[in-house]
Amino acid sequence: MRVHVAECESTQALLDASMPEWSVATTDHQTGGRGRLGRTWVDEPGSSLLVSVLLKPTRNPDGLTLVAGLAVAEVVERALGRPAQIKWPNDVFVDGSKVSGELAELRDGAVVLGIGINVNRTAYTSLQAIDGRERELAPLLDDLLATLRARYDDWHANGLPHAEIAKRDFLRGRRVTVGSTTGTVVGIREDGRLELDTGIVESGEVVFDGQ
Ligand code: BTN
Repeated sequence: MRVHVAECESTQALLDASMPEWSVATTDHQTGGRGRLGRTWVDEPGSSLLVSVLLKPTRNPDGLTLVAGLAVAEVVERALGRPAQIKWPNDVFVDGSKVSGELAELRDGAVVLGIGINVNRTAYTSLQAIDGRERELAPLLDDLLATLRARYDDWHANGLPHAEIAKRDFLRGRRVTVGSTTGTVVGIREDGRLELDTGIVESGEVVFDGQ
């Protein structure tokens, strides 16, 4: 099932667990875009990919934002022809700037996975701000959904693709604070948690030098 609306508060609110898995909601503009930890996600109308997908995983969904981040990183790398990094647990960076955020919300046993990619914005960080090219959104959306499905199926069968995630780890080697833990990031573990030299963290906001 595919839903596209010109404008909505949030594509996350357009899907619910009664719909078939892989139902997809998109919009040109959100008036109340949601980010992680109660933040807002702001877009310029018509310039971003704003997508929510309904998933019904039968395994623990904790790693899903990393799986989505990897799919986004691969799409962004193909579009830009340069490397993208995954900032644990849910952002995609290029050249030190955030171009995408991922949000997994649990709803009645299902997961509504939201992905925002800044494509054509010039005022903020976006693919266009990085290489000057304006892009059509439709082919990027097709690539994103196909890549996400392949990565999701692989994760569902085999678990997190640790090597693919680890080689794009934006935080490795950085000094960060997550909740009450401060230390230098050793890396993303096989189970998706973040390892610091002072301990292991499961979730929370990462604050690092330069943020
Ligand atoms: C974050 O960076 O904290 C996550 C941002 C997720 C934004 C996307 S845009 C499509 C979907 N709808 C929302 O309201 N949020 C997600």
